[in-house]
Amino acid sequence: MVPKVFVTRRLPEPAMERLRAADVALDIWPEAGPPPYEVLLQRAAGVHGLLTLLTDRVDAPLLDAIGPQLRVISQMAVGVDNIDLDACTARGIPVGHTPGVLSDAVADLTIGLMIATARRFFEAAADMRAGRWGAWSPMGWVGPDLYGSTVGIVGLGRIGMAVARRLQGFGVTLLYHNRHRRPEAEATLAARYVSLPELLETSDFVSLHCPYTPETHHLIDAQALARMKPTAILINTARGGVVDQDALVDALRTGQIRAAGLDVFTPEPLPPDHPLLQLPNVTALPHIGSASIATRIRMAQMAVDNLLAGLEGRPLPHCANPHVGAS
Ligand code: GLV
Repeated sequence: MVPKVFVTRRLPEPAMERLRAADVALDIWPEAGPPPYEVLLQRAAGVHGLLTLLTDRVDAPLLDAIGPQLRVISQMAVGVDNIDLDACTARGIPVGHTPGVLSDAVADLTIGLMIATARRFFEAAADMRAGRWGAWSPMGWVGPDLYGSTVGIVGLGRIGMAVARRLQGFGVTLLYHNRHRRPEAEATLAARYVSLPELLETSDFVSLHCPYTPETHHLIDAQALARMKPTAILINTARGGVVDQDALVDALRTGQIRAAGLDVFTPEPLPPDHPLLQLPNVTALPHIGSASIATRIRMAQMAVDNLLAGLEGRPLPHCANPHVGAS
């Protein structure tokens, strides 16, 4: 019997071609936005493979609605915090994801966001377009240097490492905090391991690169923000939930920290009238960390690789719950 597959959004064309050529009964959600959860429950019922994006909630009720024939979930993202991994593992369902291929794109965006936030790109550009460019002025639109600053990386995994490598060209003092020490980073990148409080207290830029888990929920809360320097800049290209967003609004409003560069929010999409988007010291982007053309194509291809492997009963090339099936 030909396996049934539901794909929750149209993917980049090279991946679509492979899906169309595969021996599967394909159902692809045709709209630009994600299928509403209620629709997903109905549309995915009876499938053998489900290809998801980070905008789809995958929980136990959905797995039950799909049924016991489900062989694989493949997500086109590295982060899988929208998926109840324990529920998948308990049902023996491997979950694919796309680590590695997006690290460079996200690291590039992170460095861009650091500079854009410190040097006030969007504020200055908005002033220029609105006719507020008077004359060149000695202290007009000034901001701090990334060059020569102290940068603290929270979460030195693949993406954090890619950021750290790029920062070698900026003459920074590099600090990091991670669940485990990374001796190779200390040796090759001169990164110094510090506690989270020390990192917050000493960094000019704090850049978040940890996964979003129950342990990292609101890791940067009011207390953490209070530890940061009043001149410090917070960069978040990880997940919105790592930061207590209400506390961040307060810290930015009161000048407890200087500015924030954010690519991720709670919720997404963030409503345009959200207080964060009214603050001049916020540089905000709509979750485009991995949005380079080549990266998105690679992510989609990897998601198809994982999907097809799961359908055929092979180990997934990139599995987020590798202990699945272990008793
Ligand atoms: C993007 O945020 C991803 O997790 O791939």
